[in-house]
Amino acid sequence: MTFLVILVNITYSMSLENIDYQKLITNDKYEANIILTPCQTVLRFSENSDQLKEIMKAACQEKGIDIVSGKMTASYLHLFIAYPRNMDIKKAVEHIKKSSSEKILSALPGITAEAGEDFWDEEYMAITSENNLSDIFLNDTMNNYIRYVEEKKNKIGEILKNGGMRNLAKCLVTGGAGFIGSNLVDELIKRKYEVVVVDNLSTGKVEYVDPQAKFYKVDINSEKIADIFAREKFDFVFHLAAQIDVRKSVENPAEDNKINVLGGLNVLENCRKHNVKKLLFVSTGGAIYGDTEQIPTKESHEEMPLSPYGIHKLTFEKYLNYYYKVYGINYTALRLANVYGPRQFKGGEAGVVAIFVDNAVAGKKSTIFGDGTKTRDFVYVGDVVEAAISALHTDFIGKINIGTGKETSILEVTRAIEEAVGKPIDKEYLDDKPGEQRRSSLDNSRAREILGWEPRVNLKEGIKKTIEWAKSVNI
Ligand SMILES: NC(=O)c1ccc[n+]([C@@H]2O[C@H](COP(=O)([O-])OP(=O)(O)OC[C@H]3O[C@@H](n4cnc5c(N)ncnc54)[C@H](O)[C@@H]3O)[C@@H](O)[C@H]2O)c1
Repeated sequence: MTFLVILVNITYSMSLENIDYQKLITNDKYEANIILTPCQTVLRFSENSDQLKEIMKAACQEKGIDIVSGKMTASYLHLFIAYPRNMDIKKAVEHIKKSSSEKILSALPGITAEAGEDFWDEEYMAITSENNLSDIFLNDTMNNYIRYVEEKKNKIGEILKNGGMRNLAKCLVTGGAGFIGSNLVDELIKRKYEVVVVDNLSTGKVEYVDPQAKFYKVDINSEKIADIFAREKFDFVFHLAAQIDVRKSVENPAEDNKINVLGGLNVLENCRKHNVKKLLFVSTGGAIYGDTEQIPTKESHEEMPLSPYGIHKLTFEKYLNYYYKVYGINYTALRLANVYGPRQFKGGEAGVVAIFVDNAVAGKKSTIFGDGTKTRDFVYVGDVVEAAISALHTDFIGKINIGTGKETSILEVTRAIEEAVGKPIDKEYLDDKPGEQRRSSLDNSRAREILGWEPRVNLKEGIKKTIEWAKSVNI
């Protein structure tokens, strides 16, 4: 009874960190409850809960620690352990953290060892005993702690998102000075990846490249690419550099082939030679599927590209599959819908938002070909970046559509722009261009299932952000 009183007093009068655990002796093993707060990588990893369970069990067994019970939630891992008497509880916890981090690391290709330190961010320990005397305080304080963690969940999630993955891996972003590439680079740097950009600045701008990224003004067809790979030793490659203008590809198919196929092959060959863990290829949906009757279009739909640009993007996907089959190079190809947002190059593949926003801000007239009822699938660049980073952490090999799954007409785009600028925009209607696709939208159920991704920014919000950006750069 005296023991219970002391225990309760200690518990309520001081921080648990200061308890002399070794003195709370009851049977041949001491029992303890531990709460570990996982970083983003562990959270993603824990989606495979069986593997995580095995890893925690193995890490504990190495030091004779038994797991009595365990529970993983979105914000913490709660382990109830029994550990040998001759072991200090802090050492036991350190061992569990270190050994499980190492095991998780080795199960995740491309994550560097330093990251292990951050894998489990917070911990809490409480001792229980053979006769469950201390359950009184455990139930109370553990529940309090769990409540506290739940309350802090959003904040912790934010911290982990921005700082939890410290210098996890080194990434190359080809085309990183361009519209999508530079937005991707910003986000990768925010999430503590080490980033190298290769871009020949044909449409990209050096001022879009985050100063924390290393920049090489080099063409993807250049032999210098091999030197860069040898020097930098990338874990991951995001391949975005491309000739993206469909009309130019029609005018000069050989030039498009040179950049979009041969340039890509130069990057891919170097991935092979330098053991890159994964290549993330930014491909295209609309230009690869061509005119389809299935809307929204699924990845399984027949590919019927109607331009050299579409043919070359598809060709490179086939090369990726070949390199995967023959050399084991992991890849995911993201087939994007019509991307829009800040920094979009006006001459781009799907530049209608960029052009109309530019015109609206500059007070110029916008031209609508046809009656404005043609539809496209407009996806915000921030959502695309999120998909690309998520795709890095899956072992899925193949193609994934990234779009909203919704059709938006050109008239709806103009209305969203008018709403954002607060006045009607000046527009004219010209005859439809022959051969233009009437409708387009990508089915995104695979992205939802495999990446846990969904578009978060709707057209209204996305256009507002794009206009704010356009005004800020005073184009
Ligand atoms: N914007 C869209 O709606 C859309 C849709 C589907 C797919 N994509 C794909 O997304 C990727 C990025 O497109 P974006 O919209 O950001 O266009 P972008 O023109 O802004 O970006 C392409 C970047 O690649 C660089 N580049 C071009 N040729 C190069 C070469 N030979 N060597 C090195 N760098 C080179 C350019 O300077 C530019 O910075 C492309 O692969 C494109 O095919 C874009």
